[in-house]
Amino acid sequence: MNYARFITARSAVRKTSPIRATADIVSKAPKSLISLAAGTPNANMFPFKSAVITVENGNSIKFGEEMMKEALQYSPSSGLPKLVSWLKQLQIKLHNPPTIHYPPSQGQMDLCVTSGSQDGLCKIFEMLVDPGDNILLNEPAYSATIQALLPLGCNIINVPSDKYGIIPDSLTEILCKWKPEDSKDPKKNTPKFLYTVPNGNNPTGNSLRGDRKKKIYELARKYDFLIIEDDPYYFLQFNKPWEPTFLSMDVDGRVVRADTFSKVLSSGLRVGFLTGPKPLIERILLHIQVSSLHPCTFSQFMVLELLQQWGEEGFLAHVQRVTDFYRSQRDAVLAAADKWLSGLAEWNVPVAGMFLWIKMKGIPDTEQLIKEKALKKEVLMLPGNAFYVDSSAPSPYFRVSFSSVSPEQMDVAFQRLAQLIKENL
Ligand SMILES: Cc1ncc(COP(=O)(O)O)c(C=O)c1O
Repeated sequence: MNYARFITARSAVRKTSPIRATADIVSKAPKSLISLAAGTPNANMFPFKSAVITVENGNSIKFGEEMMKEALQYSPSSGLPKLVSWLKQLQIKLHNPPTIHYPPSQGQMDLCVTSGSQDGLCKIFEMLVDPGDNILLNEPAYSATIQALLPLGCNIINVPSDKYGIIPDSLTEILCKWKPEDSKDPKKNTPKFLYTVPNGNNPTGNSLRGDRKKKIYELARKYDFLIIEDDPYYFLQFNKPWEPTFLSMDVDGRVVRADTFSKVLSSGLRVGFLTGPKPLIERILLHIQVSSLHPCTFSQFMVLELLQQWGEEGFLAHVQRVTDFYRSQRDAVLAAADKWLSGLAEWNVPVAGMFLWIKMKGIPDTEQLIKEKALKKEVLMLPGNAFYVDSSAPSPYFRVSFSSVSPEQMDVAFQRLAQLIKENL
């Protein structure tokens, strides 16, 4: 892989912040090291002294005075070393990336902790996108990705998809306008990357089938583009076995995967992680060094302590409980939709995540109905156009999140909505 050809001039000139580099040295050094280098504040002057966090099932995480000082202090930009190695082991167990033992310059798997996956995604885009670049994604798409990409001035090419995700033949058709060797000529502007949410896509709830992923990966090899696998709903897959990921197929080192604890541990702690080829993760780290400096140390300690208490098995058992909950929420939202919206609207059954994407029949644009009329009836949802690059185009769809409402509330909401649709036909 020639990583240099993907990286923007802005990202290519990033250099290590000398102050941050000392933080890494201190974190790995023996306690006998006398550091007069870093401008870390004296933790004895911090007013917070200890904490006990109660965890379900009678467990707790105790922050004694010494641990509290560490948890409130600056820490390495890549994440707490123990958390990084725990997460690397997890990725190896779950995805077994072919790149684990590659030489660093040839795309060896690396990992860094980010402040939620959104922070990682934003930094990936900053690293890769120049004005005028072609990039591929399947609309409707996660609106924060669209809003992160648009200001960068790239040309977003929509890849048609259906309920099984991106359609490989449609991607082939799009790519046909280039020749594989065009990727070597910057003037040809071949697509730099494909961005997709492979499981429980936000907003459609659709998941990309494993066999399609294989075909897409082969196209990525042929036309030499990167794959950004944004997978926050990976742990919320309702069916077993879980689909193979792009990371698990990555023989070239062309996949950057964004994971997050937001959906299974806490969204407010802001702990996510990026896994990908070292030359790209290194660029992102240089960006972190001069933006947030590092993800929140206290949050990372909370996650690390919990993961260490649970072990991998305990973590996956927790994930199973969370998935069971969302599956029953999904079943409840489908029951309410069947009861009230049959004949008025249509939808696919989500196999992961927390969203139901509904298409109204006979109403070409849902914006006014959802934003104004439904709100007047005290039902809040998102109109479909929020998930398109051209948000001014009419959309008959709307997104329902089934994460946080009770089955009774879903029933009432869809009853009100059904009435509204009938009034507006
Ligand atoms: C598709 C997708 N990507 C990324 C994120 C960001 O998640 P976080 O930054 O909390 O990890 C979300 C959040 O809803 C999402 O739906």
